[in-house]
Amino acid sequence: MDESEKRISTQQNFPSKLTFYVAICWFLAAFGGLMFGYDIGISGGVTAMDDFQIKFFPKVYEKKLHAKENNYCKYDDQYLQLFTSSLYLAALVFSFLASKACDKFGRKPTILIASVFFLCGAALSASAMNVAMLIVGRILLGVGVGFGNEAVPLFLSEIAPVNHRGAVNILFQLFVTIGILFANLVNFAVSKVHPYGWRISLAVAGAPAAGLFIGSLVISETPTSLVERNKLEQGHKTLKKIRGVDNVDAEFNQIRAACEAAKRAKAPFKELMKKSSFPPLIIGISLQIFQQMTGINAIMFYAPVLFQTVGFKNDGSLLSAVITGVVNVVSTVVSVVAVDKLGRKALLLEACVQMFISQVAIGIILHLDLPTTGSLTKVEAGAVVFLVCFFVMGFAWSWGPLGWLIPSETFPVETRAAGFAFAVSSNMFFTFVVAQAFLSMMCHMQAYIFFFFAGWIFVMGLFVVFLLPETKGVPIDAMAERVWKKHPVWKKFMD
Ligand code: BGC
Repeated sequence: MDESEKRISTQQNFPSKLTFYVAICWFLAAFGGLMFGYDIGISGGVTAMDDFQIKFFPKVYEKKLHAKENNYCKYDDQYLQLFTSSLYLAALVFSFLASKACDKFGRKPTILIASVFFLCGAALSASAMNVAMLIVGRILLGVGVGFGNEAVPLFLSEIAPVNHRGAVNILFQLFVTIGILFANLVNFAVSKVHPYGWRISLAVAGAPAAGLFIGSLVISETPTSLVERNKLEQGHKTLKKIRGVDNVDAEFNQIRAACEAAKRAKAPFKELMKKSSFPPLIIGISLQIFQQMTGINAIMFYAPVLFQTVGFKNDGSLLSAVITGVVNVVSTVVSVVAVDKLGRKALLLEACVQMFISQVAIGIILHLDLPTTGSLTKVEAGAVVFLVCFFVMGFAWSWGPLGWLIPSETFPVETRAAGFAFAVSSNMFFTFVVAQAFLSMMCHMQAYIFFFFAGWIFVMGLFVVFLLPETKGVPIDAMAERVWKKHPVWKKFMD
């Protein structure tokens, strides 16, 4: 063990207690996840509601009534897909502004900004009288997602004690999944409320938004963010408060050292273009692209449509979406427990195998037995629901949470906010692509769309084996020494 390694490994066990105060902070901040999840889960059900289509997309409704039934093409419409996808375009752009806000004003005000946009977006979309209001509402929600998804995961990992960092960060994802499930349930409940059930679905988004707003007033700023902005005394006091012990000097000194290094590097985006920033940047962006190319959002956005495709009636398909929502939440809880025990790589790899099998099996069933018209047998349709649940289970205890966790813990403080912004915006861009393209791709590729996703999952597995380093238990500010400089591929990029 060399000198620097010794220093870092003694720093690893900073004294801390799991304080009530910090638990409250996590809980409130995780409302950002709830809000994001609600937005993901709500659009599929809303776009499938007749009243909604009649009001905003009458041509789609007409087409649906008169078109000859085609299993794979029922909802193939660019404008309808734009309703879902526009949010992610706005989020993409605003995650960069959010990273500046995180650096300049801190994590707490950035979370406050997110909640205000969420509130405005929910109000506008729920009261929309025309498509323009609807889309502007979606864009405001997207701005909220951009700010929230940048600031909340950073907040959570900076405030967590090292040994609990993985689990705490996954709280964000857990709340995302609860938000999706909540949205599925609301859609199921209001689908028979005519003609304004969709308004209720969109308005209920105001509830998590209000939770985040209140939360953002109550939470503490993170010690890292305070030190970064020269509020040393306040940073020290906050660290004592959140750790629940007096002896926080070792951890505080490490935060200070990391922040001083950060100040020497004035322009974070320029710093990111340096060779030594490539490893976390490539890993962060790739994880987010791969996360989307598993095909998860084809299911999260369009599960009701997918289940209708395999032959379920309206109620049955909404109910099946609720079932996958429950599997999503429960499996994410498994991840909270497993991530700091089994490590990141083991979970990601196991899930690749599980998701690959599911996608290939769904593809085979649909290819063999679901022609353009007609439907699957009950047993086959049941098997598809089971396989979708098996797929969601694998995703939910691995790529779902770790796609967010790993980029939040691998950048050094000087490029953390900027680097994470690249990761968030890659996620948003590919979420946008899947939201905008899936229904059209399904129409053209039919069952082959599932083999397409399986191909991506295969590549992801190779990526994990050869390029992804293990970051379990490594202090966030010691990644360069302990991880990048030791990895056979990435060490070539380090000075
Ligand atoms: C992803 C979302 C996805 C969700 C499903 C998140 O980690 O970023 O795109 O819808 O997981 O639970």
